[in-house]
Amino acid sequence: MSAQSLTVLGIESSCDESAVAIVEQTAAGAVHIRANLVLSQLDQHRPYGGVVPEIAARAHVEHLDGLVRQAMDEARLDYEKLDAVAATAGPGLIGGVIVGLMTGKGIAFSHDKPLIAVNHLEGHALTARLIDPALPFPYLLLLISGGHCQLLIVHHVGHYTRLGTTMDDAIGEAFDKTAKLMGLGYPGGPAVEQAAIQGDPRRFDFPRPLAGRPGCDFSFSGLKTAVRQAYEGLASASAQDLADIAASFQAAVGDVLVDRCSRAFDAYAETAGVGAPRHFVMAGGVAANAALRARLHTLCMEHDYKLMAPPMALCTDNGAMIAWAGIERLRQGLVDDLGAVPRARWPLESLNETARSASS
Ligand code: KG4
Ligand code: ZN
Repeated sequence: MSAQSLTVLGIESSCDESAVAIVEQTAAGAVHIRANLVLSQLDQHRPYGGVVPEIAARAHVEHLDGLVRQAMDEARLDYEKLDAVAATAGPGLIGGVIVGLMTGKGIAFSHDKPLIAVNHLEGHALTARLIDPALPFPYLLLLISGGHCQLLIVHHVGHYTRLGTTMDDAIGEAFDKTAKLMGLGYPGGPAVEQAAIQGDPRRFDFPRPLAGRPGCDFSFSGLKTAVRQAYEGLASASAQDLADIAASFQAAVGDVLVDRCSRAFDAYAETAGVGAPRHFVMAGGVAANAALRARLHTLCMEHDYKLMAPPMALCTDNGAMIAWAGIERLRQGLVDDLGAVPRARWPLESLNETARSASS
């Protein structure tokens, strides 16, 4: 299926965004996002300071059908013109995943189209090629979101090596908890980043967990505890105190990322070979953080890597990344049947076996 135009509908519902998109790749390789709708449920979850799975699942039920209809209208497309339907099948909050996957199955079944059950992490991992389809494999990926913090080698569609992951909290979770502790609002990442702008990053000497240790794993729980102790140690926190904590926290996170990623450069060269292309891709909601992007940009310049970060709207959860992963998998002949199961947990490396057996 390499030189054929493909148009795929993508459905994403693994967390608190109901998202539907239609992506087309022409026979010449150009990519067009023909519709990309994201309905954020932020307002519904804000009073709770985090995502409430039951509320998220119900909201997906209410909105997905309408979003699909709207996306098809925007793209001026008839269902018959779709080449496949791609839906997130995990990992994520299982109620939402079930809603999205079953919606995808319903559309695929009723219009007799192939179904592609997409791993949400593969969606994030391949987004850089949605922006630039000429980006060659392999590349190094830093996936930093509310649910994940991983360093991966992307060898090919469906073929990944995980170099490191978090041993406790995900990085976005650390931002969200820090913001919640200081009453900065939800979602925490943008609030902490905003507060940090006016803050002194040297005022609090927070720990840099695992920095200097071998390997590429992460840990954020010690940092979280230190932030709590610093905050609780203040008699009454002024706006400047909050800004200083936010800036010191963000500086610690930046140092940890720089340390872990520089080790990942070595691991990448060892696994992929010293002559492998030197592309470093950031993905996931935390990649929207300008201060962290700047730190990694400098690191990449020092190590002669090219940093690629998708635009903000494609870093956070969206349907276009799922539709694009669908196109990439369809080109490899990797389709699923209607028995595809929703999964709360679904490590990316477990895709390796499926991809291998399809290509053999
Ligand atoms: O990728 P995403 O939209 O959803 C998941 O798959 O988790 O990421 C959401 C996470 C949240 O934890 C949010 O606080 C964080 O990304 N985030 C940020 C920023 N914008 C979003 N973290 C730090 N700085 C930001 N500017
Ligand atoms: Zn995500």
